[in-house]
Amino acid sequence: MTEPSYLAAVRESYDTVADDYAALVKSPSALDPLSRSMLTAFAELVRASGRGPVADVGCGPGKVTAHLAGLGVSPFGIDVSPKMIELARGAYPGLHFSVGSMTALEIEDDALGGILAHYSTHHTPPELLPVVFAEFHRTLAPGGHLLLVGHVGAGEHRRPAQAYGGHPVSFESYRLPTDQLAQLLNQAGFSSNAQLVQEPDEDLKWKIASFLAHKPTAEETSLTS
Ligand SMILES: C[S@@+](CC[C@H](N)C(=O)[O-])C[C@H]1O[C@@H](n2cnc3c(N)ncnc32)[C@H](O)[C@@H]1O
Repeated sequence: MTEPSYLAAVRESYDTVADDYAALVKSPSALDPLSRSMLTAFAELVRASGRGPVADVGCGPGKVTAHLAGLGVSPFGIDVSPKMIELARGAYPGLHFSVGSMTALEIEDDALGGILAHYSTHHTPPELLPVVFAEFHRTLAPGGHLLLVGHVGAGEHRRPAQAYGGHPVSFESYRLPTDQLAQLLNQAGFSSNAQLVQEPDEDLKWKIASFLAHKPTAEETSLTS
């Protein structure tokens, strides 16, 4: 597939803000208890299924990838921003990171035990989310788990002029309704395990949703058909 045009803006913007993002973003151990618990549950499910490594797609500077390694799974990171990958490699030399896009993963079919998309799908124009979710489904082994976490809303489309550290950025972002994301995951072939919706409060600026889902095994598919 030829690269979708929005990716150039995402790459360039995250290359520009990478250093400040890495300095500003909370380490996963400093996240709120519910967000941490979803990462822990995801890692436990992946470990129990014993189906393969975990791709952290849109891994940024690799902090969450490293957190997953600490939870006993075998993660690697992929990001469209070469600068983010350079930072991740520098910070975590024992882990593997590569430049790539979730719209066309360079990963074989059924190869992964898990996929984490942690605040990384919101720059994808909604009409391209089915492409991304199809890639997640293609590369996960049957029985493998997906954890998708991000801001949700009423379908707002934002074009911030500046981001992390006040740098000019040209990316766009979308806050889709929770139900719409759940439906898109279902349409891509995922079975939902759990959904966590966190309302904004004094610590949380925007509404967050976490979707824990899996790719059904052949047995599960035959039971439900
Ligand atoms: C807000 S950061 C999140 C980074 C990390 N997951 C975290 O939680 O700290 C979003 C990251 O997603 C990456 N990203 C956005 N679209 C992507 C795509 N299509 N393929 C791979 N990475 C992408 C960006 O380059 C950026 O590093």
